[in-house]
Amino acid sequence: MSAREEFDSWAAEGRDKGMEDRHWHTAKHVLARMPVEAGDAVVDLGTGSGYALRALRETADIGRGYGLDGAPEMARNAADYTDDDAVGFLVGDFDALPLADNSVDHVFSMEAFYYARDPIHTLTEIRRMLRPGGTFYCAVNYYEENEASHTWQDNIAIEMTRWNRAEYRAAFDEAGLHVAEQDTIADREIDIPPAEAFPTEDWETRAAMIDRYRTWGTLLTVGVAP
Ligand SMILES: C[S@@+](CC[C@H](N)C(=O)[O-])C[C@H]1O[C@@H](n2cnc3c(N)ncnc32)[C@H](O)[C@@H]1O
Repeated sequence: MSAREEFDSWAAEGRDKGMEDRHWHTAKHVLARMPVEAGDAVVDLGTGSGYALRALRETADIGRGYGLDGAPEMARNAADYTDDDAVGFLVGDFDALPLADNSVDHVFSMEAFYYARDPIHTLTEIRRMLRPGGTFYCAVNYYEENEASHTWQDNIAIEMTRWNRAEYRAAFDEAGLHVAEQDTIADREIDIPPAEAFPTEDWETRAAMIDRYRTWGTLLTVGVAP
């Protein structure tokens, strides 16, 4: 199963916007931490609806945004959601990133990196594209310490890489990216119902829901190109 087969149908069903709404809770904090300057070139890997680049154009006046996605329907929707000529959407795979060496200031990715078939190779590709001092802000909700995320693989045919925090740091290091920061960002916006509402359709206990969103939330690993 390819990203195209899996995610084209998600885009056709409008799930790109649903992801945007949910992921924004923590993605906006990741975007706010990025050291972007006016005029910078930024790549969003697995861009989905393209919300990250639209936000960075508004908040940081980036000069150029490239949203890459393996699903053509996702890229088409993302292009439809903006009329900003400085933001473009490309169809491509994490295996071979279609930008020149040292051509990118910063790379962002939210809830997508773990779909890479060969994640170390993808990190090496990111390192190749980044100019010295450029950064990769890699945000994932699917990771080892976030136990509630473990079942997600059962619902998707693409193989997902479930690293822990230390494995993320080691992989960045192996690909030649210095780890400048690693953090977990809590989702404080998701509504957690009172104890008497549990079990719900999705959660057996309130404690499990708190663990998923407030304790673990999103894992952010930041790599810097030397
Ligand atoms: C869970 S969605 C996240 C989308 C968006 N970043 C967000 O936060 O809502 C993952 C995205 O990554 C894309 N994707 C998955 N595997 C990919 C691959 N190997 N190459 C390129 N894009 C891929 C999917 O098509 C999908 O749009």
